[in-house]
Amino acid sequence: MSPLRQWQGAVVLASLALTLTACFGESTARSNDTRDGQDAEPDGGVSCAAAGKNDEIRLALAPACEGCHLTGNKPFFASLAAFESGLVYNEKYVKRGDPGNSMLVQLLEGAAPGSYPQMPPGQPYSELVASGRVTLTIEQVEAWIRDLPAPPGQLETPSPEEFTVRRLSAEEMVVSLMDQLRLTLEDFVSTSDPNWRNKAYVVNGGKLFVWPGDRAPGISNEYVSDSRSIERFEALGGGNSLLYRKRDVGFGPSAAQTLVQMSQAWCARAVDKKNNPAVLRHVTLADTSTRNPDAVQKNLGALYLRMLGQPPSEAEAKALYEQVYLPLEAQNTRLAWIGVCAALIRHPLWITY
Ligand code: HEC
Repeated sequence: MSPLRQWQGAVVLASLALTLTACFGESTARSNDTRDGQDAEPDGGVSCAAAGKNDEIRLALAPACEGCHLTGNKPFFASLAAFESGLVYNEKYVKRGDPGNSMLVQLLEGAAPGSYPQMPPGQPYSELVASGRVTLTIEQVEAWIRDLPAPPGQLETPSPEEFTVRRLSAEEMVVSLMDQLRLTLEDFVSTSDPNWRNKAYVVNGGKLFVWPGDRAPGISNEYVSDSRSIERFEALGGGNSLLYRKRDVGFGPSAAQTLVQMSQAWCARAVDKKNNPAVLRHVTLADTSTRNPDAVQKNLGALYLRMLGQPPSEAEAKALYEQVYLPLEAQNTRLAWIGVCAALIRHPLWITY
């Protein structure tokens, strides 16, 4: 399996590169238009020039906040636009002209209502000021909120430069994967009772069924015979309204791990299912790269297109063939196609929308 891991590793690296937003790009762009030869101030360790008062505050808070708020579901510090639309002009956090009633100030003071009374969690902001990690004081934040200008008009207009990709939700993953692999509920649950659709699902063993805990039938764990089906759905980032559990909009290790298991198990199910052209469209398991190379290539391209919605580049087709398909084909063709199928499901293009 190690070639498969390598290929995956490269893909994960490529996707990480997309999320590394910082002001480095901005600052190099700006340092070209020399402002009287002045360098950006070495203020708070951030070396990019601020684009106005709000940006100054953003850059001054950043050393204390961006560690957790560059990505995820509250990426306030990803850009000035994210800071303004998510935090500054969000009435929940900042009441213009009224610092005392602004949750942002309460968070810095460690006195906010809710489950997170303090930002950053675990360390009073004033200590960070005292230790010199940040230079912006709470009083300066209050003064800024008191004189905060009205939101800029274009705040709501989407900017073509903004990064607008999101991960697929757990629901979308389950539904689209069943569809793409031509699997149905019957492939996962027992149908021996003629009335099975209206009863608790009896999950077949070893099929890695994934099912939302608040969906019917299955309005509680009791109604799906295998509680792991629901645990997996939640690990994938799915919510559960009955347990007040919010959907996770990030994509963490548990979601990745669950998707890996699910992709392997479900691709195997699709390959083994009789007369299922989802994975084996132009080949049979008797075709190999030596016996029928054209069919293998054609199927590889078709599967890529089916799973990712675009044809592969030459380099990607080659990498998929040489690093995933061929090493596994040495064991057998069934494993090779399961491996290719599973690798495509872990591709950034599959996971994101
Ligand atoms: C160590 C990680 C960490 C750091 C550093 C951090 N936060 Fe947070 N922040 C969180 C977590 C976790 C939550 C709550 C979970 C969520 O909603 O994403 C949160 C939530 C918030 C919220 C929403 C609160 C609510 O109840 O809606 C705001 C606003 C916020 N942070 C601002 C800040 C600011 C400003 C800083 C810097 C002074 C900061 N955070 C630093 C982890 C962090």
